[in-house]
Amino acid sequence: MNKTILTGIKPTGQIHLGNYIGAIKPALELAKIPEYQAAYFVADYHGLTKIHNAKEFKELSYGIAATWLALGLDPEKVIFYKQSDVPEIFELNWILACFTPKGLMNRAHAYKGMVESNKQMDKDLDYGVNMGIYTYPILMAADILMFKTNVVPVGKDQIQHVEIARDIAETFNHNYGDTFVLPSYQVQEETELLPGLDGRKMSKSYNNTIPLFEEPKKLQKLINKIKTDSLPPEAPKDPNTSIVFTLYKEFAEASEIEKMREQYVNGISWGEAKEELYNVMNKFLEEPREKYKMLMENPKVIDDILLSGAERARAVSKPFLKEVKGKIGFN
Ligand code: ADP
Ligand code: TRP
Repeated sequence: MNKTILTGIKPTGQIHLGNYIGAIKPALELAKIPEYQAAYFVADYHGLTKIHNAKEFKELSYGIAATWLALGLDPEKVIFYKQSDVPEIFELNWILACFTPKGLMNRAHAYKGMVESNKQMDKDLDYGVNMGIYTYPILMAADILMFKTNVVPVGKDQIQHVEIARDIAETFNHNYGDTFVLPSYQVQEETELLPGLDGRKMSKSYNNTIPLFEEPKKLQKLINKIKTDSLPPEAPKDPNTSIVFTLYKEFAEASEIEKMREQYVNGISWGEAKEELYNVMNKFLEEPREKYKMLMENPKVIDDILLSGAERARAVSKPFLKEVKGKIGFN
């Protein structure tokens, strides 16, 4: 039986290596499995919870779409669309909201985190919280449930949201009979947390990222900034605790990785190790970077792809929304 896998990325910042390794790369691998129908989308209305500048919002949305395409997403195989082009999702969002206990949203970690940090800083507890942020997991549930999703490939931080989608689906199903498929999540275990320049999780919130499509010169500069220890050049180094090696592994071939591991043990200078990292990374990124640039200069190409994806998505969402509404008592 065919399984639906679905995931979205919200346009709230430049795509970095962590997003690529943790989310995009595994999702593209999964999309190749013949029994899977993949649906990947730009979660633009999720981005609106944070980005309130039209020009920036537009740029970031195109940026997400161009990134997927540049890295090899095949829009013939994958249903690739922009969330805002599928209005049925937002109607379902309201329906689901009416089956979501408020307490469930109080416990959602993004909202809870904001309340916590307001508390620490002695601010009003809801300072900076808009209702979009508060009800974010309901919209995400609508994204997932609309397409009868079986598997949601996500980073660890998103597990709770998939569980919330399950909870909401169960409540609805309990009341009206089997309607929604209960989704599971899939987390990329080994690479769940790619470290950033300073060794903490690479994240736009920490300002420690390496943007995926950075120009070669800047890329090299950023790589040179990666934190290392102060061992002398010839001293043996532990590849397993090195950020430089962790990154190297993501881009090099198996034989190169083994060779590099030996060089670490025999003693390689950090300067040289970083140079090698730059070489494999740049080699891998050269082509996608060009493709990304080409797409960003031709937004019409992106528009056409996303619109035809939205049509395919709506071929599913329109009849399914009708079915859901029928169960509630419309028609
Ligand atoms: P950020 O932390 O930079 O704000 P997002 O929260 O927008 O990134 O994450 C988008 C996707 O990328 C999510 O699926 C998330 O789990 C994944 N991701 C983000 N940072 C990393 C990282 N350092 N390592 C692995 N995956 C990551
Ligand atoms: N909440 C996800 C994130 O912050 C993005 C997202 C929105 C998503 N809707 C989704 C992910 C549906 C998976 C499935 O990264």
